[in-house]
Amino acid sequence: MPKIVIAIDGYSSCGKSTTAKAVAARMGYGYIDTGAMYRAVSLYFIQERVLLTSHRDVMLALENIHIAFKHNPRTGKNETCLNGLNVEEEIRKMYISNIVSEVSAIPEVRWAMVAQQQKMGRRRGVVMDGRDIGTKVFPDAEVKVFMTADTYTRARRRQQELLAKGEMVNLEEIIRNLEKRDLIDTTRAESPLIQAPDAELLDTSYMTIEEQVEWVLELADRKLAEL
Ligand code: DC
Repeated sequence: MPKIVIAIDGYSSCGKSTTAKAVAARMGYGYIDTGAMYRAVSLYFIQERVLLTSHRDVMLALENIHIAFKHNPRTGKNETCLNGLNVEEEIRKMYISNIVSEVSAIPEVRWAMVAQQQKMGRRRGVVMDGRDIGTKVFPDAEVKVFMTADTYTRARRRQQELLAKGEMVNLEEIIRNLEKRDLIDTTRAESPLIQAPDAELLDTSYMTIEEQVEWVLELADRKLAEL
């Protein structure tokens, strides 16, 4: 059976990563959360007080950033490590969400991350979720899904996620953050969030995670049968 690349792009909090993770597990594929990589860069930039407008500072910082995904036997999950330290919990916090779109709009940051992502998926057999996987990272991905959902649904999902981790954030603040990120992500000059012409649109507003997973698996099966 040939191995393919499954690119799952779309807006934040549509269920991309949960779906991608489950699809990867069912297919025996690797899963790469590219948003986590931009979040880890954001964390480093905050910790090291990197000036986002300074090309020199950004380039220097990027040279010192090493991101890896390591299996944590305690949680059974692959977790994000920044320079050897597990930062999985920290990068999901609201203060990171508040700057990550600005950081990920910096062209130098994108070039460095895209190169790493292409390396991570070079043997194929991966499910990658993000914003530009089907347009930039793997324009030749065999399966491309573009996920969307209405803002209120996305905000409620995000709120539940944060609550489960003990962070209480009101819905209005989450909606403001989602709308701001949508605007920056869709209007940035370097590989903006856009549906690839050959991507299938999946509106998850009224779908359960199980339904989303089945939908992607069926699409992957169809594409595999065509190869
Ligand atoms: O998927 P996420 O919400 O964790 O992603 C965090 C941010 O990273 C998101 O607001 C946009 C950016 N991002 C990106 O620009 N390109 C990607 N491939 C993945 C994420």
